[in-house]
Amino acid sequence: MTRNLFITFEGPEGSGKSTQINKLCEYLKSKGADVLITREPGGTFAGDRIRSILIDKSSGDLEPETELFLMAAQRNEHFKKVIKPALDKGKVVLCDRYFDSSMAYQGYARKIGMERVKKLHDEFLQDYLPSSTILLSISPETGLNRVKERAQKNPDRIESESQDFHLMVSEAYEKLAKIYPERFIKIIADNKTPDDIFEEILKAINEKYGKLP
Ligand SMILES: Nc1ncnc2c1ncn2[C@@H]1O[C@H](COP(=O)(O)OP(=O)(O)O)[C@@H](O)[C@H]1O
Ligand SMILES: [Mg+2]
Repeated sequence: MTRNLFITFEGPEGSGKSTQINKLCEYLKSKGADVLITREPGGTFAGDRIRSILIDKSSGDLEPETELFLMAAQRNEHFKKVIKPALDKGKVVLCDRYFDSSMAYQGYARKIGMERVKKLHDEFLQDYLPSSTILLSISPETGLNRVKERAQKNPDRIESESQDFHLMVSEAYEKLAKIYPERFIKIIADNKTPDDIFEEILKAINEKYGKLP
């Protein structure tokens, strides 16, 4: 098993991140790998409390920087207390959303600027970037339809954002895949079954790291 395998899953709301990260986790475990699966915002007790502030509608509008600093605070706990120690022990770490979500949501869609978001992370975290980031790319139409579907249920504070906001998020991810071509594995996830998407993810990972166990 390749050491220091740190794989994050990114993409707009409803793109299939949680579905695919669970599949990869099960697959790797079935091959005997020591896997930590985690998520952001969250991943620690304090991080989950910060998550509530971020996604509960009762928080109302937050200043963009407030959102960024809350994201950064939970990431500081998560990376230093959970992710880094697991990587140091040789575990495979799979994380549902991470740094690139802040680049897309706070940096781009909230207009703080991706460079500022990156600079902030460089100041308080070291060696924090994942080895690979699986981007589940869905067309704006599919994305907006899924957001609308969710909106009929009980959308959280971020899911309730405007269509324009969600379009900006999608646009940001496409930009990020171009900024970090070595790290990003972009998978077109429209009109494909979860099994088909997973097959593509596995193929891409095997090509990048050599055959997994
Ligand atoms: N390839 C797919 N095709 C159709 N529906 C899917 C696919 N992958 C996931 N879903 C469904 O779409 C919804 C969102 O998937 P989820 O994995 O929760 O996305 P995310 O974690 O990115 O928000 C879920 O109801 C899930 O069952
Ligand atoms: Mg999810």
